[in-house]
Amino acid sequence: MEVERVQAVASALMTAETIPADFIRPEQERPAITTYQGPAPDIPTIDLSLPDRESVVRAVAQACEEWGIFQVVNHGIPTELISRLQAAGKHFFDLPQEEKEAYAKPPGSQSIEGYGTRVSKEVNGKRMWNDHLFHKVWPPSSVNYRFWPTNPPNYREVNEEYTKYMREVADKLFLCLSLGLGLEETAVKEAIGGEELEYNLKINYYPPCPRPDLALGVAAHTDLSTITILVPNDVPGLQVLKDGRWIDAKYIPNALIVHVGDQIEILSNGRYKAVLHRSTVNKENARMSWPVFLEPPEEWVVGPLPQLLSPESPPKYKAKKFKDYMYCKLNKLPQ
Ligand code: OGA
Ligand code: NI
Repeated sequence: MEVERVQAVASALMTAETIPADFIRPEQERPAITTYQGPAPDIPTIDLSLPDRESVVRAVAQACEEWGIFQVVNHGIPTELISRLQAAGKHFFDLPQEEKEAYAKPPGSQSIEGYGTRVSKEVNGKRMWNDHLFHKVWPPSSVNYRFWPTNPPNYREVNEEYTKYMREVADKLFLCLSLGLGLEETAVKEAIGGEELEYNLKINYYPPCPRPDLALGVAAHTDLSTITILVPNDVPGLQVLKDGRWIDAKYIPNALIVHVGDQIEILSNGRYKAVLHRSTVNKENARMSWPVFLEPPEEWVVGPLPQLLSPESPPKYKAKKFKDYMYCKLNKLPQ
């Protein structure tokens, strides 16, 4: 086996009371110390089925300005389909290790696709309590079925069906983001790739962890994406930084959690904020989540929308190719 999987580390530690030192976070990052304990506001929840479009637009815009994240209910994706998506992903992670390794990200691959485990790049970097599977789901020309599990046998059908519905939700959200900026309905989607926009699905698997007070599933970050549309399982763990406090996202069955990513913050010249978030882990239960990162093609240039700029409102971000933005962020270089 090329890479040490966290799932294997976790199974070996089932009855242990500690975790390896390379998973232990410095105090200022430990969830037990840094999670806000007082009464806190909830992440906004938006009902996408309300007939009054203007109030939906206002709610989306306000959530993106104040939080950079919101939950969506009545989004039109059938509940039963979300359950099948979750069951298919869980089935894959419950397979024997060798079967999962058949989908491993090839060593040296430049693409993120495949079954993977992050090994930290920082000098004093700590490992995250997470394994994952990444594969593109849209557009069809970008899809490589080599990284789609064939077990369970319905994996492909379920994921394609989910993608079909999720794209409709995404289009509604982009429309709201455009109108919320006072622009034409299609302005945001066109500026981030139009029909070439890529949909990258990640399945996060956070095994049970003997010391959830010391580890993190994913460390604090903003997503590189335009927006990220995430379905969690029923094990809580997502936290967002709001007004300097780490707040738990409430679990709402069947809701979608929408994150504003870096590209929408740039496009809106800072009006909409990319949300800083992280994920904690659980002692008894495996946590899972299914984020889909909506990203421009690599060569696509993203910068502040010219319609939003004026002498009083100069650009706050550089325009650059998405691949160059990604390179700088992943290598921790200035943008
Ligand atoms: C991510 C992420 C959060 C979660 O994978 O980028 O932020 O709830 N995941 O799993
Ligand atoms: Ni994220």
